[in-house]
Formats: sequence, structure tokens, C-alpha cells
Amino acid sequence: MRGRGSAPGKIILLGEHAVVYGRPAIAVPISDVRASAIVQPGRRGAGIVIHALDIGRHYLLDAAPPTDPIACVIREVLTRCEIAPSLDLDITISSEIPIASGMGSGAAVATAVVRALFAAFGCPVDNATISEIVYQSETLLHGTPSGIDNTVVAYERPIWFVRGTPPTPFHVGGRFHLLIADTGVPSPTRLTVGDVRAAWERDRERYEALFDEIGALVASAREALQRGDTVQLGMLMQRNHTLLRQIGVSADVNDRLVEAALDAGAYGAKLSGGGRGGNVIALVDEAQREVVAQALQSAGAVRLLSTTLIPEEPQP
Ligand code: MEV
Repeated sequence: MRGRGSAPGKIILLGEHAVVYGRPAIAVPISDVRASAIVQPGRRGAGIVIHALDIGRHYLLDAAPPTDPIACVIREVLTRCEIAPSLDLDITISSEIPIASGMGSGAAVATAVVRALFAAFGCPVDNATISEIVYQSETLLHGTPSGIDNTVVAYERPIWFVRGTPPTPFHVGGRFHLLIADTGVPSPTRLTVGDVRAAWERDRERYEALFDEIGALVASAREALQRGDTVQLGMLMQRNHTLLRQIGVSADVNDRLVEAALDAGAYGAKLSGGGRGGNVIALVDEAQREVVAQALQSAGAVRLLSTTLIPEEPQP
């Protein structure tokens, strides 16, 4: 009984926070950084043991509390595959995705584990089911998540996402070069999502109007992505960042990196994910990539990732 699974990181291109309130958002997978899981037979009588290598934790499934997100998805897969939890299994997890930076590390680790278990048990599974199982662990980590992280990570395709409806994968019509700059300030999504909820409850009219404007610009951004229109997409990212500031989820560290990217010639830049730290993304021309990367580093980015969205080859 052996299986392997892996899953990519992700970033939200546009629409974070408003997506929790039913507006559309666009997210893309980042395949350059991944989480992986290996399932193999364990020591006889040892039970199911989880080895979380990056955090140096080794623990028994039986001893994990109901709030443990990895234990939650393992129990769910055992139930769905009708496998008795008395098995002896080692589940080894590792991840290259930075934690609490808006790159979906929790969703990717859970997805890798779910894929590895279904492979080990020889049970067929589709992306929608994986996403549904991982959503349960996301609620333990993030409170009231929209479901966009588990969806884009499970489908590993650019997606147009509206809460409560099936995701729509779509094709980009050109090459879009992105830099992802880690502010180095961890930002648990649960906190910013909770703060936005409290602010929305105090002033629903203002927040609904901000979310409406974000929803409309996300729709225009999808068209820009499909047309391959970098200039338009950059402008929309810019406006989205301004609106996120008004919502109250930016921080000096985000604004500083956004300004640095724009001054160095980026088409657009914005925070991505929960905000107040985490990541900033910048849309750049290939020729400007190095200059913008250096500007982001000088402005304090602790880690940079470069990725390109490319049009998919037509299927034969
Ligand atoms: C987190 O990646 C994106 C947020 O919109 C929260 C969510 O959608 O659950 C901030």
C-alpha cells in the first residue's frame, strides 16, 4: 500500500477578500513550489503515523485532535475509501511553500496528502472531490474561507471562482510574467478575514460598494487575461490594491513593495492573499524582470519567486 501525491502553491491574482462575500476572484497555481506526501507501510502495530518533516513533528493519527487539519483530511479519506483506521501507515509530508504568506501552503499540504492516500488505497478520485475534502481542513485553519485556495490547488489551473458555484478553469491568451515578493511578515488569513468581517458588520454599505467595485474589475481582468493584455491587467491590479487598502488589509510593508515595483517599471502590483504582510505580486515585462526584482529586494522582500502564465497548447 504505497502512494505519492503533490500539489502546487497558489496566488490570488485579483479579488481576495471580496470573494468571501460572493464576488468573483481569479487565482493561479504556482507550480514552481510544491508540497509532497508519501504514504507507505508502517511499523507493525504502530498505527497511522504522520511525519511533518518541515516542522519536525511526528505524531499518531489516533492522538491528533479534531482540529488538526491533516488528521481531518486523513480521517475523511479513510471513511470515503472504507478503510479501517487500524492500518499501520507512515505518511511523510514536506513542502517548499512558505507558510502564512498567502501562497496556499495549508491547502497544498492537505491536497498532497489526500492525493497520496487515494493513490495508496487504489481509489479513483476527481479534482472536485479532492477540493471538497481539503475545504474541511481549510475551515480549521482559516475560519470562514471562500474555498478559492483549495479549488485552485486541486485543479492546478487558472480559475475564475465564485463562492458556492463550480469553478471555471480558463485559458490565458498571452504570456504574463509575475514576480511574487515575500514581505517576510507572516499573515494568518484567519486574522485579516476576521477583521474584514468585523468592519463589514460595522459599515455594510461601504464595504458592499468596495466589494462590488472589486467584482467588476475582476471581470475586466479576466477579459484582459484572455486577450493577453498586460497593460490593462496591470492597471486593474493597481486599482485592486487601492481598494484593498481602503478595505484595511494592506500594511506599510505591502505598500512599500508595491511602490518599489511600480517605480522600477512594473505594469501593476498589489498585495495577494490575506494582506498585512504575506506576499506582493508584480506584473512585469520580461525585459524589466531583473530590474523590478532588484527593486523589490532593495525595498525589503525576503524572498522572490518568478513565474510566467502561459497560454495552454490547444488539445489535439
Ligand atoms: C486567501 O487566500 C484569500 C482570502 O480571500 C480568503 C478566502 O478567500 O478565503 C483573503
